[in-house]
Amino acid sequence: MAYNNILTSLEDNILIIQINRESKLNALTLETLKEIKHVVDEAQSDLDVHGMILTGTGEKAFAAGADISEFVHFNIEQATRMSADGHDVMNAIENGTKVVLAAVNGFALGGGCELAMACHLRIASSNAKFGQPEVNLGVPPGYGGTQRLVQLVGKGKALELLLTGDAIDAQTALSLGLVNKVVDQAELIEESKKMMSKIIGKSPSAVNKVIKCVNDYFRPNVNGMQREIYEFGEAFESADFKEGTDAFLNKRKPSFRD
Ligand code: COA
Repeated sequence: MAYNNILTSLEDNILIIQINRESKLNALTLETLKEIKHVVDEAQSDLDVHGMILTGTGEKAFAAGADISEFVHFNIEQATRMSADGHDVMNAIENGTKVVLAAVNGFALGGGCELAMACHLRIASSNAKFGQPEVNLGVPPGYGGTQRLVQLVGKGKALELLLTGDAIDAQTALSLGLVNKVVDQAELIEESKKMMSKIIGKSPSAVNKVIKCVNDYFRPNVNGMQREIYEFGEAFESADFKEGTDAFLNKRKPSFRD
């Protein structure tokens, strides 16, 4: 599929996905989100893709939110559909089998912040800004922001950010646990690739099980402890377990993808 709003490249088995609407601060149109979902879905079964990095083009914005000019005239049905479709995109990232890291290269506001939060990890450039300014537009966040912000920073700080609409800088985001690391803009992609390379060198099946177990912590009516017991037991039949333990006992590096 040819994409109109994103660029993709495969580097060392890491798929780099760039939101490519720089003149609009990479604001997320419905088509942009559809393209992100499509590329993430396709990557799940692509043996050459071991992990993904999601970023924005330019040095100013990761994504400055959903494209306001597109939804300004939506009615209730259209807006509800927009939100539900947006949730599908975020869930596809969060629940996928492959790790997605957001390399946040500037503004991550509204839907941009929600997109970054749906990723498993976030590295921010020092000029990045995070916020959920939807209250200024007369709406609450619609792509999972009210839920994932609470998960990442706790209810008190989440409510402050959601209710004031204030943006915070990268260092503040780091201190709140909203991002994993802050680096210079010039090093953002290299640092992101470094972290991703480390992860994709680990057992893919164990990595996937970690994601499932951690995600289950936040699912109502699902017992995360039970999930962990199940996933741990199941791992003992996997080739990765045999390889990892054999490598340890024979004092060699494991090779999980042969
Ligand atoms: N939707 C649609 N267009 C957007 C956008 C969005 N969320 N965010 C930025 N843009 C567009 C601007 O309209 C402008 O387009 P134009 O050049 O055709 O007029 C272009 O991107 C550049 O943005 P601009 O506002 O001129 O840049 P700035 O540096 O002065 O301000 C921001 C940057 C991020 C503070 C400002 O763009 C902004 O507040 N954006 C909206 C943030 C928001 O509310 N997001 C949540 C949406 S639900």
